[in-house]
Amino acid sequence: MSSIILIGYMGCGKSTIGKRLSYAVRKPFLDTDKIIERKADRTISELFAEKGEAYFRDMETACIRELMAESGEYVIAAGGGLALREENRRLLKELGKVVYLRADPETIYERLKKDDTRPLLKGENPKEKIRIMMGERAAVYEEAAEIIIDVDGKDFEDIVKEIGEKIL
Ligand code: S3P
Repeated sequence: MSSIILIGYMGCGKSTIGKRLSYAVRKPFLDTDKIIERKADRTISELFAEKGEAYFRDMETACIRELMAESGEYVIAAGGGLALREENRRLLKELGKVVYLRADPETIYERLKKDDTRPLLKGENPKEKIRIMMGERAAVYEEAAEIIIDVDGKDFEDIVKEIGEKIL
């Protein structure tokens, strides 16, 4: 028995799917972005603007370390960049089963085009930013995960079912 950790790019559905999965497997749902926002008493955008990305990334590692120390069993939505740090990937594997929700850049763009809560996508040409960042990150997410689920064109309930089947 252990936690289930959902990783993947911003907008791939980690929070929505995580909440439903949490209900299905009867483990409480946690979202690392929300834990960090509470702790810092700032939104992610404020945190990036005031303290910078490196500070935020250190908070992500601290967050994972605290969850490990606690030894509870959760469904965890990990912030999209959390798995990029080698140390974090190692910690996530110790924490439980890592599931990568893999999506096409087009799906992500459609979901995020009206969203202004992601500091890394602010500015010119977010579509191109998404394409480039996802290209750079894909292999890292794959390496971090034990289970990979392709989410394009599937509804959330079917994805939850698929995760449940693959995790057993
Ligand atoms: C980030 C993803 C965000 C948040 C921050 C940075 C990233 O989380 O942690 O904006 O680098 O991919 P979500 O994946 O929950 O949007």
